[in-house]
Amino acid sequence: MSLTLSPELQARLAQPLDIGGVKVLSRVFQAPLSGVTDKVFRGLVRRLAPQSLVYTEMVNATGLHYAHDLPRIMEVGEGEDPIGIQLFDCRPHFLAEAARMAVDEGATIVDINMGCPVNKITKNGGGSSLLKDPDTAARIVEAVAAAVNVPVTVKTRLGWSDQEITILDFAHRLQEAGAQLLTLHGRTRAQGFNGTARWDWIRRVKQHLRIPVIANGDIFSVAAAVKCLEETGADGVMCSRGTMGYPFLVGEVDHFLKTGQEKPAPTPLDRIQMALEHLRGLWEYKGERGIRQARKHMTWYIKDFAGASQFRALLCRIETLQEGEALLLQAMERCQEGSRPEDRSDHTADPISANAA
Ligand SMILES: Cc1cc2nc3c(=O)[nH]c(=O)nc-3n(C[C@H](O)[C@H](O)[C@H](O)COP(=O)(O)O)c2cc1C
Repeated sequence: MSLTLSPELQARLAQPLDIGGVKVLSRVFQAPLSGVTDKVFRGLVRRLAPQSLVYTEMVNATGLHYAHDLPRIMEVGEGEDPIGIQLFDCRPHFLAEAARMAVDEGATIVDINMGCPVNKITKNGGGSSLLKDPDTAARIVEAVAAAVNVPVTVKTRLGWSDQEITILDFAHRLQEAGAQLLTLHGRTRAQGFNGTARWDWIRRVKQHLRIPVIANGDIFSVAAAVKCLEETGADGVMCSRGTMGYPFLVGEVDHFLKTGQEKPAPTPLDRIQMALEHLRGLWEYKGERGIRQARKHMTWYIKDFAGASQFRALLCRIETLQEGEALLLQAMERCQEGSRPEDRSDHTADPISANAA
């Protein structure tokens, strides 16, 4: 059944999104993802979603204070606007200093991470542990907002655990402290990435705030994005794990929200071509380290190609650009030999084993 966009939703989302005076022309964002959303990946997303807000990986403000050079994860390239540089820490003065550096680097907005569940981060008072310390969280927003002349935004979760869902008060404190947009991942810290994201809570928070709210959690398809927007009343959606090995997603959602038409799904060949471009980009940008990082990306690209386990095992071990290229080019050849017009809409088709016999 084809997907439809209700006239109410289309009308609601037709206007540019106003983030503290900055107008963004797309209602779908690419999430910050550590180890994923580097300049190379963002470039792939950006090509298909030219107007979407994309984010860097999160950057440690204390680390930045003591660093001699700008870390690569904070580098912003030409034509990356609109882009959010995401920072984490619990010290308002370090975050204010880091925010100034982010603006110098070209950040359209500065985002503060108050949702990361990882122990290494929370035990130092950063990420989701700020949900337990709303005074510090508010001081952070005030300090960063006073330090820079771009909008300051926050990405957070529902609360620390099911027993401590504090988001209504917490979000209100952030808004009063000067946050210009809230991205809400509909899980608690205790949930990590498990269970379903609770969009009903996102709806409640949206109704509670004046500032725009972006819904995050479990947006793995255009249909899920539309359902989430309908159910939450949010001002936009942010795609996260659904983009790993699939940089097409943000562009697909953006296209549908703007036109009411679904883009044809990329073929297996399109997806391998994208993987190849990603691999080459990582090599150019990071050299050997880029190849090691490419291994996980490559396996994500092919994760739903049935029977690809052998291929995955080989991709996991690539040491050089040439090894990766050879594997992907071989897979592309097999795809081309066997591709038939009916393959076009089936992006779970197996390009590897279908022709291997
Ligand atoms: C590998 C990985 C890295 C992540 N890195 C960040 C990060 O740097 N900053 C952040 O705010 N969230 C980070 N997240 C959380 C996601 O942005 C998002 O909030 C979460 O995955 C929920 O959305 P989903 O259910 O659509 O994946 C990360 C998640 C994953 C899986």
